[in-house]
Amino acid sequence: RPKLPQYNTIDDAVRLLRESRNIIVLTGAGISTSLGIPDFRSKDTGLYSKLEHLGLSDPQEVFDISVFRENPKIFFSIAKDILPTEKKWSPTHGFIRLLQDKGKLLTNYTQNIDNIEANAGVLPEKIVQCHGSFATATCVKCQFKVTGDEIFGEIKKGNVPECTACQKRIAEESLKSQGLKRKRSSNGQQKDRKISDDSSDEDYEIPTPGVMKPDITFFGEDLPDEFGERLVHQDREKADLVIVIGTSLKVAPVAEVPGILPRNVPQIYISRTPVSHTDFDIDLLGDCDVVVSELCRRAGWDLKHHMIPDD
Ligand code: OAD
Repeated sequence: RPKLPQYNTIDDAVRLLRESRNIIVLTGAGISTSLGIPDFRSKDTGLYSKLEHLGLSDPQEVFDISVFRENPKIFFSIAKDILPTEKKWSPTHGFIRLLQDKGKLLTNYTQNIDNIEANAGVLPEKIVQCHGSFATATCVKCQFKVTGDEIFGEIKKGNVPECTACQKRIAEESLKSQGLKRKRSSNGQQKDRKISDDSSDEDYEIPTPGVMKPDITFFGEDLPDEFGERLVHQDREKADLVIVIGTSLKVAPVAEVPGILPRNVPQIYISRTPVSHTDFDIDLLGDCDVVVSELCRRAGWDLKHHMIPDD
């Protein structure tokens, strides 16, 4: 994507912010690190640098759907560390909220699963959670859905949360089959047999409940339909500015977003680390909270106001 020559400096960025009406903000883990939540790929501090003990050939496998299906314990051994915490948010989340309040936010495409945009008051209809979230979880066996907080207790203990619908079904089926056996025993056969003692049940597999998988998008899973639909059929034509914040843009298909937007739409990149595989019109490298605060200062916008809780 060739650069647009008219945009270079931070003041060009400020002008674009002021003039734009339909801004796409694409965010990654870097916007939450100031809250103590690690990103993924930063050397020494990122989550992936801390997973050696799991013995995976690539730490990203912790979010790989086939690894999860084989051994969910691996994911749940670290899940407690990435659970959404209290109702806090960073100045960068406040900045996204400010764009919304100014009627300029078209969509915040977030790769983050921490749900913190909502804490800052960004409206659900303004957010696409490209990689899902912990807000809900689904049973891998029977697709039973629960809200995330129903399994947070188990996750916090480092346990693998099991499906209560499966548990109920298994208990009912076991009661039914025990009923049948009791009938048989009252016919003068065997009394109080356990399933495992029963030679006729040799091939019988003890039913186990399904595992509840938080509805975050693992490697090998499709992104929520809303991502492609909204981007291609709605936002692509409307967007007049793209701001990418705190993401290494290493994970497709989100990494492809800047490339599929029309060339005449200016793109700003705000992050600590530059990316080499995509050319942005303006790179504002540094701590994103500092950068957005400076942008607001120069635009004459009050970011502080957007850091105060609504209630
Ligand atoms: P990464 O860890 O790959 O990138 C975070 C980026 O933010 C890096 O460029 C950091 O330098 C930068 N950064 C960190 N803290 C910052 C700060 N305070 N100010 C400015 N920049 C900062 O995280 P993502 O790009 O979000 O997917 O990762 C994308 C996906 O990879 C995640 O959604 C996750 C992961 O595997 C799944 O789990 C499916």
